Amino acid sequence: MDTRSVTHLALRNYKSIESCEIELAPLTVLVGRNGVGKSNILDALRFTADALNTTLEFAIRERGGIDQVRRKSLGGRPTHPGVALRVRTPAGEAEYSFRIAAVKGLAFRVDRERCRVFDAGGGIRHEFDIDGDAVTRWTLQSAPPAVSSDRLFLVAASGQPEFRLVWDVLRRMTFHNLNPEAMKLPGRPEPGELLSHDGRNLASVIKQLQSSNGGRLNRVLQFIRAIGVPISRIAHKQAGALETIEVSQEVQVPEGSRNSNFDAISLSDGTIRAIGILVSVVSAGPSKSSGPTLIGIEEPETSLHPAAAGAMMEALAEGAETTQLIVTCHSPDLLEHSAVKPDMIRPVLLDNGRTVVGQLSPHKAELMRDHLCSAGELLRLDQLEPDAADLKQQEEARGTLFEAIA
Ligand SMILES: Nc1ncnc2c1ncn2[C@@H]1O[C@H](COP(=O)(O)OP(=O)(O)OP(=O)(O)O)[C@@H](O)[C@H]1O
Ligand SMILES: [Mg+2]
Repeated sequence: MDTRSVTHLALRNYKSIESCEIELAPLTVLVGRNGVGKSNILDALRFTADALNTTLEFAIRERGGIDQVRRKSLGGRPTHPGVALRVRTPAGEAEYSFRIAAVKGLAFRVDRERCRVFDAGGGIRHEFDIDGDAVTRWTLQSAPPAVSSDRLFLVAASGQPEFRLVWDVLRRMTFHNLNPEAMKLPGRPEPGELLSHDGRNLASVIKQLQSSNGGRLNRVLQFIRAIGVPISRIAHKQAGALETIEVSQEVQVPEGSRNSNFDAISLSDGTIRAIGILVSVVSAGPSKSSGPTLIGIEEPETSLHPAAAGAMMEALAEGAETTQLIVTCHSPDLLEHSAVKPDMIRPVLLDNGRTVVGQLSPHKAELMRDHLCSAGELLRLDQLEPDAADLKQQEEARGTLFEAIA
């Protein structure tokens, strides 16, 4: 099943990316050397979700200001960062884009913003266009909300059901760069629907799962055991006003083995990270009304033993059957898995200081299809490169998605 919420992504002047337009897969794997811009691509999606969930001002401030978000260009020419996405909502496809302009004094304003909701035949059903602080197009009967140049108009437009679905798909994109230290410390209870960026609300998410979907928690346990950690139970544990998780783990003793309970603080880094990824991916489930619409994960292989990588890939592939996933990856062991197909791989490289990303070259894709080489082997040989023809096409034949932020 095609579980994609975001089918296409175009970026302009976002951090190291000058321009790119790519199609995403149900499970997209961004590969490439250190510092080429893989995390920047994920961050552009996260930036969009952050700006829709909090405020644009906060999303920019959290990234160190507009000068860190926009691409630094050699000539010092001003660059306007822009993000454009093609999304699938329960009511059909839509395109959404925004472009930000830096203004003197480290400030910024939304310089252009557009949303188009399509009907089944591809015609435009509803649309808005914002140019500076003017609404230049608004196809609904009701009057448009006021434009505020430091906020995304889509937030205000989400008061209308016609645009709400687009806002809702985008704001529920979730991203993880899990931090074992933060995950191990007992924390204050939080609303536990989505695992947070560093995973610190793991206990809250597990509590929620226990009450709503024990079957999914069991699936997490199965995967954790497949990864090689003999855990028989994971449960939420209240510790005064704080909460943590408790796991029952089989430990070897001279007389044989017995189960012991451990709090999160005693778990290994690899174990708690794996639990975090599995909980996020497996718990997402087919609930289309509240769970994540897309999950971005930074380097799911971190602190995993190579022999455990196959089980992790299995979990990611299964997760992608219900929720779209996008991961960055440096692990040949993870990419060795037979579930990894050529159309999932998006090689990223730096060309003259600019991030470029595209499809895997047809020659390498063919090697993989003919089982002459796995993606893991190609990665080990540093032979995963983007298709030159795709990069050329991205430069020459800009789609409508890209035009909106050009
Ligand atoms: N505003 C900006 N303008 C231009 N380049 C930028 C900007 N912000 C960051 N960069 C570049 O992006 C690079 C980091 O990219 P990113 O973190 O996405 O790499 P990565 O591919 O995820 O690497 P790794 O595999 O090490 O995690 C930095 O080295 C920097 O050169
Ligand atoms: Mg990175």
